[in-house]
Amino acid sequence: MLKVGLLGAGRIAGVHATAISSHPGSTLVAVSDINQAAAQKLAAQYGAEARDTDAIIADPAIDAVLIATSTDTHSDLIERATAAGKAVLCEKPVDLSLERARACQKVAAANGKPVMIGFNRRFDPNFGALKAALEAGEIGKPELLAITSFDPAPPPVAYIKVSGGLFRDMMIHDFDMANFIMGEAPVSVSAVGSSIVDPEIGAAGDVDTAVVTLTYADGRIAVINNSRRAVYGYDQRVELLGSEGLLQAQNMLENTVVKSTVNGVTGAKPTYFFLERYMPAYAAEWYAFVEAVTSGGPLPVTLDDGVAALAMAEAATLSAQSGAPVRLDSI
Ligand SMILES: NC(=O)c1ccc[n+]([C@@H]2O[C@H](COP(=O)([O-])OP(=O)(O)OC[C@H]3O[C@@H](n4cnc5c(N)ncnc54)[C@H](O)[C@@H]3O)[C@@H](O)[C@H]2O)c1
Repeated sequence: MLKVGLLGAGRIAGVHATAISSHPGSTLVAVSDINQAAAQKLAAQYGAEARDTDAIIADPAIDAVLIATSTDTHSDLIERATAAGKAVLCEKPVDLSLERARACQKVAAANGKPVMIGFNRRFDPNFGALKAALEAGEIGKPELLAITSFDPAPPPVAYIKVSGGLFRDMMIHDFDMANFIMGEAPVSVSAVGSSIVDPEIGAAGDVDTAVVTLTYADGRIAVINNSRRAVYGYDQRVELLGSEGLLQAQNMLENTVVKSTVNGVTGAKPTYFFLERYMPAYAAEWYAFVEAVTSGGPLPVTLDDGVAALAMAEAATLSAQSGAPVRLDSI
């Protein structure tokens, strides 16, 4: 039985608390948060104790910690938890700063404990099936990847200000998805961004709409489209054109009813947001972590994957500012 401490008791921590408690091979021992009331509430819900972060990290009876705190705390907590001998699953992104994330990567490697980054979309059954079909050779050689990732509505501007920007906070998932499907990082990143949805987001120094083009050493191309607003729901699709055909992973819908009348043919909207769409993926992510840690096998997503996606986010941020493509080897 893997004994787990959960750091953070906010939005995503609640999802992870459910996954940890539902897994037959793990138990949620303790929860911490700088907001003690939040930690107490979440801990009580799952029969765990509320403790402070230091006490969780120092407890030799805790085998693993799940870091679901605000992004600017991730590198410090990864370093401290691995130094204390814990296996770690840390939410994305690794850090707001690429330099800090790279320093953390060195410290964690020296500490020698497993660190997985929470790129939950790799565990979505639809994207997993697309990747499996690609690997089975069903569309031949991949040539053009298109990732669509639209949120239903923008977050508050107060969140935008501390998020690190759309490329680090939101598109980071799509950078990792591109790396997952293409099997390697691109050589160059070209980005265009705009604050057409909410000028307040622009005033806060961020963009809410962006297109990124990734080019690969062998000539393959990937395009990522992001928007903070899609009025019809959470739009999450992947399309991959290969030499022998096309693979498309479509949205999950609120229901499967299709209405056909004299007025036309209509169906349900996509599920509202990430909590609805990716709940099975969060559970599968936790299963994969427990399996790797308890068997000593390879992690399905590593800290290196987290740093690789952050480097692409950094390159995209610079490209959107300068208007020129940025080579990843210059980052
Ligand atoms: N993988 C995903 O789909 C996904 C979805 C949402 C958020 N996230 C990531 O998860 C992290 C948390 O996001 P959220 O939406 O849950 O935010 P949130 O603000 O709801 O929760 C963060 C919590 O961390 C606590 N906290 C901050 N510093 C702390 C510290 N030093 N020690 C203990 N607790 C501390 C805050 O008090 C807060 O309760 C972010 O890094 C975000 O990027 C990932």
